[in-house]
Amino acid sequence: MLTTRFTELIGCQIPLQQAGMGVVAGPELAAAVTRAGALGMMGNVLPAPQLAGTLEHLPSPVGVNFLMPFVEQDAVEAAASGARLVEFFYGDPEQKLVDLVHGGGALAAWQVGDAEEARAARDAGCDVIVAQGVEAGGHVRGTIGLLPVLDGVLDAVGDTTVVVAAGGIGTAHAVKAVLAAGAHAARVGTRFVAAAEADTHPVYAQALVDADAQDTVLTTAFGVMWPDAPHRVLRSCIEAAEAVTDETVGEMAMGDMRMPLPKFAVPCPARSTTGNIAAMALYAGQSVGAVTKVERAADVVRELTADLGD
Ligand SMILES: Cc1cc2nc3c(=O)[nH]c(=O)nc-3n(C[C@H](O)[C@H](O)[C@H](O)COP(=O)(O)O)c2cc1C
Repeated sequence: MLTTRFTELIGCQIPLQQAGMGVVAGPELAAAVTRAGALGMMGNVLPAPQLAGTLEHLPSPVGVNFLMPFVEQDAVEAAASGARLVEFFYGDPEQKLVDLVHGGGALAAWQVGDAEEARAARDAGCDVIVAQGVEAGGHVRGTIGLLPVLDGVLDAVGDTTVVVAAGGIGTAHAVKAVLAAGAHAARVGTRFVAAAEADTHPVYAQALVDADAQDTVLTTAFGVMWPDAPHRVLRSCIEAAEAVTDETVGEMAMGDMRMPLPKFAVPCPARSTTGNIAAMALYAGQSVGAVTKVERAADVVRELTADLGD
């Protein structure tokens, strides 16, 4: 397998990071990816004590991802003491948070959408910077394609900081291509949404299997709870939500409670979500054409990185 600055810094065998993806990327998925030799990531949806307890049972190295609009300091502290990497997305890089992560003994990462944001992340002290292209599934920070973003980020911070490429990467060719373009690792989201270990509703996973790259769209439609934040979803879910006449589309679990899910709300459907799944936020990147079946995360890792040593 290929050794890069990413594998050396993180202490994993494969230059591949599974994206943090909220509830979809739970401990089961993170553990499976890490056991396969890449970097598994948990999207944090837990209060600090439960997060600390969960991390105790995960293999190493794993990362924890936080969305800035919902970040809680005590959960960041718990992540920093129990994970190898603590990562943030969707907000200006903050030195205070990076210092908190380093204070707990972890490495800090920030996912960014352009070179200016990458410089701010480096200046805040980040060890790893993820350059995200507009092809990406889920929330999208920047406005341009991955290769130009990656070029700009590498020019800005590549000498000092480990750089990971994200957005539209769903095949072994694409992984090889971003490594050849200078990235120290590839980050993959959508392929892992359809992994057997992901907490993904089966109707959502099947929609990914059925879709092609041209079936995704960048939108602000699913803005209830988090307005004006562009995200890439399957076009079909916008059309399905527009056709719903009720205020809600179903119910989702929140710990032991069940909550109504408003139409056009941010959460994507997990296994335990009920209702009109096709009308919920079905996040998908332009990599979705490479999702052809539900399969184990280890098989996805193997397929994406099989010929990297060649
Ligand atoms: C279902 C889903 C949820 C996501 N949630 C998050 C998140 O909570 N935090 C984050 O940093 N990125 C999130 N992302 C974006 C990913 O980090 C990454 O940029 C993206 O998946 C890369 O594009 P790809 O999906 O084509 O591989 C999400 C992506 C998807 C598909």
